[in-house]
Parts: sequence; C-alpha cells; structure tokens
Amino acid sequence: MFGVKKDKLSEEQIRKALSTVMDPDLNIDVVTLGMISDVKINGTKVFFKLTLTTPACPVKERLEQECKDAVLALPGVETVEMESTAQVAGQRKTGKEPINGIRQIIAVTSGKGGVGKSTVSCNLAVALAKLGANVGLLDADITGPNIPLMMGVESYQPKAKNDRIVPAENHGVKCISMAFFVSQDTPLIWRGPMLDKAIKQFLRDVDWGELDYLIVDMPPGTGDAQLTMVQATQLSGGVIVTTPQDVALLDGRKGLAMFAQMEVPILGFVENMSYFQPKGSSEQYEIFGRGGGRRLADEYKVPFLGEIPLDPDVRIGGDEGIPIVAKDPDGAVALAFIEIAKQVAAQVSIQARNPIPAAPQAAATPVSISK
Ligand SMILES: Nc1ncnc2c1ncn2[C@@H]1O[C@H](COP(=O)(O)OP(=O)(O)OP(=O)(O)O)[C@@H](O)[C@H]1O
Ligand SMILES: [Mg+2]
Repeated sequence: MFGVKKDKLSEEQIRKALSTVMDPDLNIDVVTLGMISDVKINGTKVFFKLTLTTPACPVKERLEQECKDAVLALPGVETVEMESTAQVAGQRKTGKEPINGIRQIIAVTSGKGGVGKSTVSCNLAVALAKLGANVGLLDADITGPNIPLMMGVESYQPKAKNDRIVPAENHGVKCISMAFFVSQDTPLIWRGPMLDKAIKQFLRDVDWGELDYLIVDMPPGTGDAQLTMVQATQLSGGVIVTTPQDVALLDGRKGLAMFAQMEVPILGFVENMSYFQPKGSSEQYEIFGRGGGRRLADEYKVPFLGEIPLDPDVRIGGDEGIPIVAKDPDGAVALAFIEIAKQVAAQVSIQARNPIPAAPQAAATPVSISK
C-alpha cells in the first residue's frame, strides 16, 4: 500500500551527480566548466558526452572514471555510456589580431643558447600530436634554423596553394622554417625589420589549417624575434628551457623577465640535461647539478613542468630527423617529454580559462630589449 515511489531519473539528477567531479587543474567542477553535454536517459541506461579542454589532459583517465562512477552511484542507474572528446579553447580576446585557425601559440625559449630549446620544441610538438592534437611547429630561429634537420624535413621544397605557403609535415606535425627558403651555405645576416616580416609571414601566410597548438622554437636570448612574436600575436604563454648550471639558470631568469615585462604568461620551466643514467644502470649522474629548474620555478611561483635526462639518443634522434618521442615512444626520455607535453597543455587550459596577468613581480628584473 505504501510502496516506494520509483522516481524517474532526470537530467538534472545526472548533472548534479556530475557536478561533484572537479577538474583538478582548474579547480572547477566539470558541469560548471561546460564539459558535459548530450545527456540522454533510457530507462536505467545513461549516456553523456565529456569534452576535455585538451586531448593531452594529464588527468584524462581519472576524470573519465570519476564521471562514470558519479553517475553509476545514482540509484536507478545500471549502465553508463560516456563519449570522451576534447576541444582546445581558442585564443583569448585581446587587442591583438587572432590568427585564423590557430587556437593556442606556445613559445619555447631560454635566456642562453644551446640548452635544448629546439630539441624540446620538436619533442613537445610530436608528443602533443601523438596525444591527439593538431600541431604546428614554427622555427623562429631565422638566422640559425635547425627544425628541418631535427624533424627530418630538410629536403622539403615549399609550395604555394591559393597564395599561401604549404608547410612541410612529418611525425604528425606541420613545420615551417627559413631553412626551406635559403640555401644551406648562405649565411643569414638579418636586421630587425626583415626578421619581423619573416616571422609575421610564417604566422599569417602559411596554410596551417586548423591547429590546436602552434609551437614556436625561439632563437636564444631576448632579441628581435622574441619582440616580434610577442607583439604580432596573442601568445598563450612561454615555456622556458634551462639546464641545471648556474649560468643557464641566471639566463633563465632573463627569459622570464622578458616575458614578464611583455605580459606573456609563463607556462613553466623545463630542466633539460638534468642527469645522465647509463643504459642498464640505475645510477643517475648529475653532471651539471640538478634541481635548479625546480628551484627557479618555486622562487617565481610558476609551474615546474618536468626534467629531461642527458641522453645520447636525444642528440642522435635530433641529428637524424626522428625526435626521440617518435623514435622510442616507450623509452624513459620519451615518457618524460610526453608528461611535460601534458603539463604544458594543462597550463594552457588554465591560462585560457583564467588568464593571470603575466608573471610575478619578482621576475620583473629589468632587461634590455633591442628596438
Ligand atoms: N637531453 C639531451 N640529451 C642529449 N643531447 C641533447 C639533449 N638536449 C639537447 N641535446 C643536444 O644538444 C644540442 C643543443 O640542443 P638544441 O639545438 O636543442 O639547443 P637550442 O637551445 O635550440 O640551441 P640554440 O640556442 O643554438 O638554438 C643538440 O645537439 C641536441 O641534440
Ligand atoms: Mg635552437
């Protein structure tokens, strides 16, 4: 007579259950973030779509599981079907003109030369592509370009399509570099305005198609190329590469100060050549010291994105045009790069959602920028 009334499941109940699941990077629940859509209920069966902010989400599996579990815990639910996809946010609206089709632009930089910017750029690009993103790689080192060698597209002859330059493509990444347009033996001595023009053309006149991420490999230092990149585009942020030596760390500070001064968010530090671990040994040798990148990140309260060991295979991969992430995807170095790529993507999502004004005050040590 007083039998329990069996309530029909409602979309509201499902959304309420899902609103207990938090995105740990953004610290907001998945419903408020607009990640849940297409909720359908069929008796005891529930379907919904989860749209992550990046295919390279570092907590993808965890979020998917938590969403499923939250709905399954509802009385009356027996099966949950979830479709998981990703949509990288577009560029923030600022006074700067956006570039059609390019969602996020990430500059890889360092204060000092030779610390591994190009190596990090290539492997970061390949890792993001492997994780399912559409990725481009722009070689902004106009006078010393080496992306074509490292990406195995040295012999590429650029073509035009509808008045736009068709980029080279390898390892799932579209690439453009000044090396495609000049003979290898011609030294490039360029002045500010020419550099500026070349970089702007690479941004706007290349047929990039739809890109989630455009990775920009910067030349060393804080010169004209940096200035153009910052002024011509809405950079999502900068990844600063450093090695553990004090001198590189000091220069890492300069890289950070430049971005701070130009109000570009710092996505974080990567420490390259952190240690050497001989094959088959568990011993790690800290040739240049270790942990300086993390200390620097802590000091300036910016994220530490990860460390890469010194490994001859990294250089060999670079020299033969197959970045280590493509060559040995399950090896320890590739896994370190993939983890860094996920952290970079997470930081870009955070910035896209919650832009903070560039960098910490402490970083704003004056640096001289030419022009
Ligand atoms: N983790 C690593 N292990 C071994 N070799 C590495 C590593 N990272 C970079 N290298 C090698 O060090 C050299 C310098 O690296 P890379 O060209 O990436 O630096 P860069 O910062 O881009 O230099 P530049 O300032 O001249 O543009 C290259 O020969 C590269 O293969
Ligand atoms: Mg370089």
